[in-house]
Amino acid sequence: MLKRIAVLTSGGDGPGLNACIRAVTREAIQEGAEVFGVRWGYSGLVNDDIFLMESRDVGGILGRGGTFLGTARCPEFKDLKVRRTALRHMNQKGIEGLMVIGGNGSLAGALALHEMGFPTYGIPASIDNDIDGTGMSVGVDTTLNTILDSVDRIKDTASSHQRAFLIEVMGRNCGYLALASGLAGGAELILFPEREGPSLEKISDVVVEAYVRGKHHCIIVIAEGWQPGTKAVEQHLLDHREDLGFEVRVTVLGHMQRGGRPSVFDRLLATRMGAFATDNLLNGESGCMAALRGGQIESFPLAEAVKQLRPLDTRMLKLAGAMD
Ligand code: ADP
Ligand code: F6P
Repeated sequence: MLKRIAVLTSGGDGPGLNACIRAVTREAIQEGAEVFGVRWGYSGLVNDDIFLMESRDVGGILGRGGTFLGTARCPEFKDLKVRRTALRHMNQKGIEGLMVIGGNGSLAGALALHEMGFPTYGIPASIDNDIDGTGMSVGVDTTLNTILDSVDRIKDTASSHQRAFLIEVMGRNCGYLALASGLAGGAELILFPEREGPSLEKISDVVVEAYVRGKHHCIIVIAEGWQPGTKAVEQHLLDHREDLGFEVRVTVLGHMQRGGRPSVFDRLLATRMGAFATDNLLNGESGCMAALRGGQIESFPLAEAVKQLRPLDTRMLKLAGAMD
């Protein structure tokens, strides 16, 4: 049984990270272990920004967005020598295992440490829901609710003015956020990288069709990773503004999608995954992450998780064709 572990959050932030840190800390302390917090992701390991935490350090953070440990991108962590420095700092403090909370890149970093022989465990947290091996990552549910709230609000104003709106959502190269929010928000069209096309001409046809059918709005949800991109659609529609019927406006939701209080689902997922992952790490399991599979939290190998981006569910993909 490990007696001293550290925890960090790395990569893009999202709702539920604090709930994860809290669960890891409380579970470890309850099991009789000491927990060190690492500030600013892998940079904190490299710069020795590591401090002993107590149960009260994680009091009152369950419902707060962001991460109280801070997060960062630390490209130099891909360098073996830099990782050696990180291991040295942990070894000097007697830390025997590391919990990494983050997205694909962060979990690749965790795998790299595991492969150097240091016990490391992961918790998948990314608003993009692009981590393979888990049905949901921490943060996704809250972000979807935030997007949906925005889509509903935009629909109100779109209908009042009889406008077509392009709403761009995050997701990096993954279309999950666009697909799920577009379906739940009743978008007229959803554009995401996992589905080829449609052409710019077809997109303007969809706008005209909505106008002719007598709709008061036309909502098009676009994944930021979709090509040729929101700007190209906007330009095409503006070039054909005389034919559309609707005026066109664009909203890029941006980083507001990453902030905010975590939903019930995310708080529970973070707490379940955090406790599960901690028990496994303390018991000497390494090179795996907590994963939501068939409603249960299970252990899933990091080497498998980081091999590819999580593919979209084919039945959900088909729904996009039928519903938009
Ligand atoms: P996310 O974890 O949200 O996907 P990034 O892809 O930016 O975010 O990765 C976060 C951090 O993880 C990087 O800045 C780097 O410190 C670390 N990382 C990413 N890939 C690797 C890798 N192959 N080896 C070691 N560390 C990595
Ligand atoms: O991976 C999370 C994410 O929010 C992506 O959806 C987005 O492409 C990216 O991070 C934005 O990163 P940054 O905060 O560095 O602009």
